[in-house]
Amino acid sequence: MKLDFPRYTERLGAVSIHAVQRIYELDSGKSKGFQSSHQTVRKFDYDEISNILHDLAIIIPVKDEKLKLLEGVLSGIPNECLVIIVSNSARSPVDRFAMETEAVRQLGRFMDKRIVMIHQRDPGLAEVFKRVGYDSILDSDGGIRNGKAEGMIIGLLAARMYHKDYVGFIDSDNYVPGAVNEYVKIFAAGFGMSTTPYCNVRVSWVFKPKIKNNLLQFSKWGRVSEITNKNLNALLASITGFETDVINTGNAGEHALSMPLAECLQYTSGYSIETREFVDIFEKFGGLVPSEYPQIVEKGVEVFQIETRNPHFHEDKGIAHLNEMLEASLATIFGSKICTPDQKEILQDQLRHVTKKRVDYSKKYHMLEPINTIHMPEFEKGLREKADTFLRIGRLK
Ligand code: GDD
Repeated sequence: MKLDFPRYTERLGAVSIHAVQRIYELDSGKSKGFQSSHQTVRKFDYDEISNILHDLAIIIPVKDEKLKLLEGVLSGIPNECLVIIVSNSARSPVDRFAMETEAVRQLGRFMDKRIVMIHQRDPGLAEVFKRVGYDSILDSDGGIRNGKAEGMIIGLLAARMYHKDYVGFIDSDNYVPGAVNEYVKIFAAGFGMSTTPYCNVRVSWVFKPKIKNNLLQFSKWGRVSEITNKNLNALLASITGFETDVINTGNAGEHALSMPLAECLQYTSGYSIETREFVDIFEKFGGLVPSEYPQIVEKGVEVFQIETRNPHFHEDKGIAHLNEMLEASLATIFGSKICTPDQKEILQDQLRHVTKKRVDYSKKYHMLEPINTIHMPEFEKGLREKADTFLRIGRLK
């Protein structure tokens, strides 16, 4: 892969947010013993990418998606990666999770991939969370909460169990396996460029095509991303005093984190998680409030935003779903301790416009505590003993 070095970087305390980087070649071949040192373009050869992929787990959250799409996504993930599927699909009247496991087992045999699967609502897993004191993932009945973020946390813990240094998230409703393959390589390139162990790589889709009047339109922005990005940039500007447009991946469903950063972030529930990552990174390391993590402040946090060459084709889930995502994203910015009263007022107006009602957003968003409080040996022992849906497929213990 060949892509440009960051052309421009916005800095906030210990955080460097790099502007969007372009890819020039998806595959720049194998180097023949020498590395050309180019000042503007970084080339990653097969071996360099492959070495990073060995340390990367790809987490796929699934909820009642078409099996064909999940199979396509799996086929796009490079073989070096550990794959972790966290499903919240229906168990009745039809057991969709059983259908998923059957399909993955069958395909896994031919792919010879290492795959972990688990069901998010496994009562045994809920018991393990109770035992290790990670209550923020539990609902009032003691079960595991629904939500994409909650599934992602379970995936993060599985990746930690297998000692992975990096985790990447890829949605299971993608129609193009080649795009999935590109996302994973983008993650590897971002980690390869990072100068700190604390790194976030976010995928910026070149186009998100839609069909309008029977024609394929290559739109660049969805309404949700446009509004979220604008508000995240306004949050930055309210702190630095300089307007900016550096952020354009506020809702990036495809993104990755180095494990040392992932384990100390505080996430929010459901679809707000991608926006919350930015907000949490600013809160913790932006220098506005004292940080509990001086070692991270010392080394710095880097955020990379890398634009794909493949367009993003995924399931269209309708306007109510988009409004739910927008509400979640705006509310998570509203709830931040670094959001100014002026910006809160603007957000409140936008939220009212989306939801058509007045809600107290200071109480609305459920926080999921950092996973670094969890005692891993106890979690792992509990998971292996108690979680009936915890499956390992392929060369995996
Ligand atoms: N484990 C789990 N648990 N997975 C879930 C859940 C859940 O409760 N809810 C949804 N998922 C899975 C879906 O099956 C899909 O693979 C992925 O999470 C994303 O959910 P979608 O409902 O398909 O969201 P989307 O495609 O409209 O939005 C995606 O892209 C946005 C950016 O455009 C999401 O990734 C958003 O978070 C993102 O902001």
